[in-house]
Amino acid sequence: MNPRSVRISGWGMYAPERRLTNADLERVVDTSDEWIVSRTGIRERRIAAAHETTATLSAIAGKRAIAVAGLEPDDIDVILVATLTPDYWMPSTGALVKEAVGNTRAAAMDVAAACSGFVYAYSIADAYLRSGSFRHALVIGAETLSRYLDFSDRGTCILFGDGAGAVVLSASDEEGGGMQGLEMTTDPDGAYMIWLPSGGSRSPVTGGTLARGEHYIRMEGRETYRYATKTMATTALKAIERAGWQPTEIDLFIPHQANVRIIESVAKGLGLPMDKMFVNLDRYGNTSAASVPMALAEPVDSGRIKIGDKIVLVAFGAGLTSGGIALQWTADPLCGERAASVEPVAKVREPLDWSSVDPIPERLRQVLEGGAGPSVPLDDVVPGEPEPAHREVLA
Ligand code: ACO
Repeated sequence: MNPRSVRISGWGMYAPERRLTNADLERVVDTSDEWIVSRTGIRERRIAAAHETTATLSAIAGKRAIAVAGLEPDDIDVILVATLTPDYWMPSTGALVKEAVGNTRAAAMDVAAACSGFVYAYSIADAYLRSGSFRHALVIGAETLSRYLDFSDRGTCILFGDGAGAVVLSASDEEGGGMQGLEMTTDPDGAYMIWLPSGGSRSPVTGGTLARGEHYIRMEGRETYRYATKTMATTALKAIERAGWQPTEIDLFIPHQANVRIIESVAKGLGLPMDKMFVNLDRYGNTSAASVPMALAEPVDSGRIKIGDKIVLVAFGAGLTSGGIALQWTADPLCGERAASVEPVAKVREPLDWSSVDPIPERLRQVLEGGAGPSVPLDDVVPGEPEPAHREVLA
């Protein structure tokens, strides 16, 4: 039977303990705290410890969301993990998270839409629940971006951080609340504005791809910035219109935490003051798919979001993708206190003899340990160009 509504019943987040400050980054690339703060608003970001992965971060945030919802792990019917930094290409991170949260019966999978991933995953879970297929969905956005960053590229390594956020969506027999308006876009014109060149079927990893650092995130910052400022406001506006609301009725926007200047331009585009925009990127940087659910959990827990509030989640990311959800908040924020019962530990199943693998990039390890040599930028890759080692074969 179709439910009367689909609502957020639980929320939670987890950020690794280790902080990487702008001053730390000054030691590894030619940058300054002043430049990073004035151009992005970011002051520090979190870095996953060697024993942590996207699955472990996901599991802690997920267990917290399940506790806040007042549910048992086995009440969850489906688990969606939005990430661009999965533990492996296969199995899915979702499959590992299912076991780590103590669930024995859910279907689990990953959703790949970069920084818009959480909004996309939310919309998929919402549709499952509205159709009556499932009653409870765990939707997670989680990243360990520090493992995919070139710490000699000052254009990217200053921006990103690690973390996870989660919500439980539940079918309800009560009328109203939950998602009222949805807008999603995908624009492949910008496919190579933010990309990770090698490791996929187009360019499998070789010694050459590794030497050129093609396993790290590449980004055209200025172009991405232009796209984001244009798209975020229009995406949010479409979602608000579909809900039948006006921008001035929105109590709080939860924008993707990429750059405070992008968020300021969204506020300006919607004709709203900055105090309608939630910002925590100063403390976490851009955590991609984790950014929106982490930025949702904080204002709920601090009492800034109240029952009945109109909220807009809005994100943009690689693809290029964008997604906006206009929703009405229905859960008692005090339930957030239940998350305190969940320890920040997660046990994720490992392959045999895997404990010797060190996942921290060498250059990041040097920064974390208090030193780093001079920055040697890796080669740039032109989108669509075969790598030189293959060129002779193809010619
Ligand atoms: N420190 C010091 N100087 C720097 C740094 C740095 N970390 N990075 C770039 N610069 C220099 C540039 O080399 C350039 O110098 P030049 O004028 O001598 O050539 C100058 O600063 C200005 O560079 P711009 O790229 O024009 O700087 P801008 O103001 O655009 O800021 C930034 C760069 C922060 C990357 C911005 O463009 C941005 O935020 N873009 C959006 C990025 C984003 O959000 N990406 C995430 C997408 S989400 C996902 O799916 C992963």
